[in-house]
Amino acid sequence: MEPLDLRDDRLLLSPPTEADLDDITEACQDPQIAAWVTIPAPYARSDGEGFLRQAVVPGWASGSSLTWAVREADDDDGRLLAMIGLDGIGDGSAELGFWVAPWARRRGVMTRATALVLQHAFAPDGLGLERVLWQAYVGNWPSRRVAWRAGFRVEGTVRLHGVQRGVRRDMWVGTLLRGDPREPVEPWPAD
Ligand SMILES: CC(C)(COP(=O)(O)OP(=O)(O)OC[C@H]1O[C@@H](n2cnc3c(N)ncnc32)[C@H](O)[C@@H]1OP(=O)(O)O)[C@@H](O)C(=O)NCCC(=O)NCCS
Repeated sequence: MEPLDLRDDRLLLSPPTEADLDDITEACQDPQIAAWVTIPAPYARSDGEGFLRQAVVPGWASGSSLTWAVREADDDDGRLLAMIGLDGIGDGSAELGFWVAPWARRRGVMTRATALVLQHAFAPDGLGLERVLWQAYVGNWPSRRVAWRAGFRVEGTVRLHGVQRGVRRDMWVGTLLRGDPREPVEPWPAD
């Protein structure tokens, strides 16, 4: 698949490149990313290279896994703010995954990036998917808030559903279907 940029009036999403390696490596030192994402910990620059060469590039080539780096739209050589991707694309479905660098959090970056990626995921002239899956380790309220804001319904907790660095963990699982509203559809649970 040809690499594709997505943008709104504030953000530019484009496939990450080797020029992003310093920022990827620095962001992935963050304990919050290590706590909630299946990245290696400790995270070395060679892990970033492996991510780009063994996941990002082949994912775009096959169309089965699409990853975007998020930056300010008016600064397309600018610093990386976040990473977002659709993985396991096939049979009308994909799984959404994301992280925001610690220097860019709590500014609505992932709310906007998620909206852009979901628009592309469902659009008939985009990927034309029927549903997108969101999963997070139980207790990841910031991720759940992003998913809730995007319209996902959390359909339950699946016990020992995920494996993070060799340890099985319970996960929240939610879905968004093509025709669902892209806004909160259920009350925010007391956390
Ligand atoms: C989860 C994460 C991506 C959120 O990114 P972000 O760009 O800071 O999120 P936003 O600024 O768009 O905030 C979205 C909502 O979540 C809320 N939120 C974000 N971080 C929060 C936090 N630490 N505590 C409480 N609420 C939080 C925001 O207030 C906002 O709510 P609102 O829409 O009612 O105002 C970011 O915290 C992160 O990278 N965490 C570590 C990696 C991770 O968990 N990835 C997901 C794995 S499933």
